[in-house]
Amino acid sequence: MKNKLKVKFIVLDGPDGCGKSTQTKLLAQWLQGQGVEVESFRDPGTTAIGEKIRQILLNPEHIAMSTGTEVMLYMAARAQLWAEKIAPALKENKSVVLDRWLSSTCAYQGYAGGFGMDKVIRIAKDCLERPWPDLTVILDVDLETAANRLSSQPDRIEAKPQQYHRKVREGFLKLAEQQAGFAVINAAGQIDTVHKKVAAVVEKYLTAVP
Ligand code: TMP
Repeated sequence: MKNKLKVKFIVLDGPDGCGKSTQTKLLAQWLQGQGVEVESFRDPGTTAIGEKIRQILLNPEHIAMSTGTEVMLYMAARAQLWAEKIAPALKENKSVVLDRWLSSTCAYQGYAGGFGMDKVIRIAKDCLERPWPDLTVILDVDLETAANRLSSQPDRIEAKPQQYHRKVREGFLKLAEQQAGFAVINAAGQIDTVHKKVAAVVEKYLTAVP
């Protein structure tokens, strides 16, 4: 498969509780099993600076944080992740699998937070070297399934009201309709069933004839 590799930069994204952290790990392992060199990161975070920004963003005490501030901080963590981790990995011809990326800022801050998806994308184009990956897989789940998968100690974003999370889901689905390079998967099933669906979508993209 390595010779046929077309996709190098893959993002798994979706509402809180969609299972993307587990699926990111499984996808990276599956790619490795196919002989693909792969690195896997989480956004926001991974870098020392990004993890500090993550703490500021998710601290439940920071209720005063405006949506605009959230957008800038998520972008800042992302710019650092790109510079320190993603760009070097891609340069070494490795594939990158990311747990969240710009699609999250579009759905959460842009759509659910009312900042505007177009405005988020404009800012991303100005401050990120590479706003969009080759493929974004959205793991779609209904609110009830998602809520059952969350921990009992929600972070500042998870603690937002149900109406917000309903809009987050809508935002992801709208974005996937509007943007090229998106695939939506029903992620309400068992871990292995969802993994097989993710692997099938990725394989289709990896081996697609140009
Ligand atoms: P995580 O728990 O999936 O790593 O994500 C942390 C939280 O941050 C999660 O509730 C989703 C939220 N988030 C945004 O609101 N905007 C973003 O751009 C990103 C990447 C995450």
